[in-house]
Amino acid sequence: MVAVAAAATPIRVSVVGVGVVGEWLLRAIDRHRERLRDEYSLELSIVAVANRDHGFVYREGGIEIADVLALKAAGASIGELERTERWPTALAGLAATETDILVEVTQSPSFDGEPGLSHLRHALRHGVSVATSNKWPVALAGVELSDLAGQHDAGFRAESTVMSGTPLLAALSAGLEGAAPLRLRGVLNATVNYVCTRMAERASYADALAEAQQAGLAERDPTADVDGLDSVAKLMVLSALVFGVQLEIEDVGRRGVSALTEAGIEAAFAGGRRLREVATIDPGRRRLAVEASAVARGDPLFEVEGTKNAVSLEVDPLGEVAISGPGAGPELAGQGVFSDLIALARDRAERARWSA
Ligand SMILES: NC(=O)c1ccc[n+]([C@@H]2O[C@H](COP(=O)([O-])OP(=O)(O)OC[C@H]3O[C@@H](n4cnc5c(N)ncnc54)[C@H](OP(=O)(O)O)[C@@H]3O)[C@@H](O)[C@H]2O)c1
Repeated sequence: MVAVAAAATPIRVSVVGVGVVGEWLLRAIDRHRERLRDEYSLELSIVAVANRDHGFVYREGGIEIADVLALKAAGASIGELERTERWPTALAGLAATETDILVEVTQSPSFDGEPGLSHLRHALRHGVSVATSNKWPVALAGVELSDLAGQHDAGFRAESTVMSGTPLLAALSAGLEGAAPLRLRGVLNATVNYVCTRMAERASYADALAEAQQAGLAERDPTADVDGLDSVAKLMVLSALVFGVQLEIEDVGRRGVSALTEAGIEAAFAGGRRLREVATIDPGRRRLAVEASAVARGDPLFEVEGTKNAVSLEVDPLGEVAISGPGAGPELAGQGVFSDLIALARDRAERARWSA
């Protein structure tokens, strides 16, 4: 008998944000085109790309990824893509065009989550599925975004917002459907954990941070990492998507490693303990915090070293579920978005086959 491969289902994808992660994703789609067709029966067509400087560029029949990458490599504008229509902003472009999936990989700050939040809301309200690595929109409005996805029959995935490409959110939400999350503890910032690990090896705080910057782990301005704000965003994402509870930044107690005194650091290492920035969600004890603190041997977070991250969730009726893995890097973030995109596209394709 000869196996007949199912015809690949065309899925339209708009990529808003063609920076490091967006570009990594486009390369992955290009490189895995055959596999996407043969293994997943998917034909992903990039109908739009957008950035801040050049706006939203669209071609109904699909844009060649190689053309986008060539323009980027040459330092030229995506506005130079041929036979395309163009809008000055992503929001205007999204409103005027059609797509099945939005990949939202812009940078959006903590005070309002924009422009990402508006992009995500617009897409979901129009039944467009969404994959994003942009943490603040999900931190500030994850419950609303999940509800919108449900109301409009769209998919919503944000795996790379916490622990980059290490699969976590889907495992702790869809993977635990029917169970009840009770408490969570985690190490959520790779830069800070690298700094803590080096300090245990007797590097000074300043030297450890400088090393993290040299290794490309820390931003040039590492304030949001070392003052705990980055981990607060990730804790808020976990609260929204795993516990279904929307938090505001002020709800979370915060003491980053930058707030520790010399004496505090010495104390954290006393008795063979290790310094960790621990994120805690403990609704029973009304405790929400990101705190640089000492952990003792035997604590699951004690062994989380270097750029590794980990989350330990107490679940009824399972007990403790722990996931650890690499926590930083554009390849990881890109891979997380790529996985989300494939999952969303397979879901759309399945629905298209059923309704055909
Ligand atoms: N890189 C990582 O390791 C990593 C890891 C986990 C999560 N993330 C998250 O993933 C997202 C993307 O990260 P990245 O490293 O790719 O950032 P990036 O290199 O700074 O790229 C951001 C992109 O978003 C575009 N953009 C900004 N505002 C826009 C707007 N209003 N409309 C359309 N496009 C807009 C930028 O356009 P211009 O180039 O014109 O400014 C740029 O193309 C961020 O939210 C980041 O926090 C990144």
